[in-house]
Amino acid sequence: MNPKFSPAWFATFGRPDPATTAREVDFLARVLPRPPASVLDVPCGFGRHAHALSLRGYQVTGVERDPAVAAEARAAGLAVHELDLRCLDELTGTFDAVICMWASFGWFDDETNGEVFAAMAAKTADMLVLDIYNQAFFRTHQGRGENRGVREDRHVEHNRLRTTLDYPDGSRDSFEWRLYEPDELEALGRPVGLRLDLVCADFSEKPPTSETPRTQLVFRRDTQARCENQQPASSSRKTQAFWPDSSTRSK
Ligand SMILES: C[S@@+](CC[C@H](N)C(=O)[O-])C[C@H]1O[C@@H](n2cnc3c(N)ncnc32)[C@H](O)[C@@H]1O
Repeated sequence: MNPKFSPAWFATFGRPDPATTAREVDFLARVLPRPPASVLDVPCGFGRHAHALSLRGYQVTGVERDPAVAAEARAAGLAVHELDLRCLDELTGTFDAVICMWASFGWFDDETNGEVFAAMAAKTADMLVLDIYNQAFFRTHQGRGENRGVREDRHVEHNRLRTTLDYPDGSRDSFEWRLYEPDELEALGRPVGLRLDLVCADFSEKPPTSETPRTQLVFRRDTQARCENQQPASSSRKTQAFWPDSSTRSK
């Protein structure tokens, strides 16, 4: 089921502090093809990454389902398509890179998530960057807590994270994610010609651990992927950070 991001969610959580976004954008700038590469931001929200990448010379296009959020991003000068990310095939053309930030992948059943992954892969000529929730962290950090004055309850059942947010005004949001391990995503990438090149945490060189809530994965277009023996890469990749050599940057 598609998550419903309520006005209360956007008001409370929708605009991470600038230092957080700057750190995330610094990471993106290290791994993305060089400007003026084209980047598709799926979904872009208010456009915090899109805006910062534009300032660095990237040509960024956003996709966002919420009309008011898309309108605000557009008002800030960004090119934003009001579109459900399950309908990416309605967009024309391809981009040098696709980014999917802040756990915006995994909201659906496995089949639909696979279709979304394949659609993002079809939209990139070169690279896909995913920023997902880390299963190991959420398995060890379940239960009730407080986040910006909002009561948060989170539980992992099998491979799905379910959270509820109870706002001070009595309203509630519920969200659910399929928590993917890197090797599962690597397997999704192989048939669509993407090779998993980097797995890391905290938008840095650090490997993911049970103390890091988010994991970043960088996939590159692998022109030889379909011809090679389709064996998974070393299992050590699951927990290690791999950095692409600067010579592997495509632009
Ligand atoms: C957690 S926010 C992330 C936004 C942005 N990537 C960022 O890091 O700030 C998730 C965004 O996805 C949008 N969204 C939810 N379901 C969507 C869908 N099916 N298609 C496109 N956008 C969607 C929400 O409106 C919200 O702006």
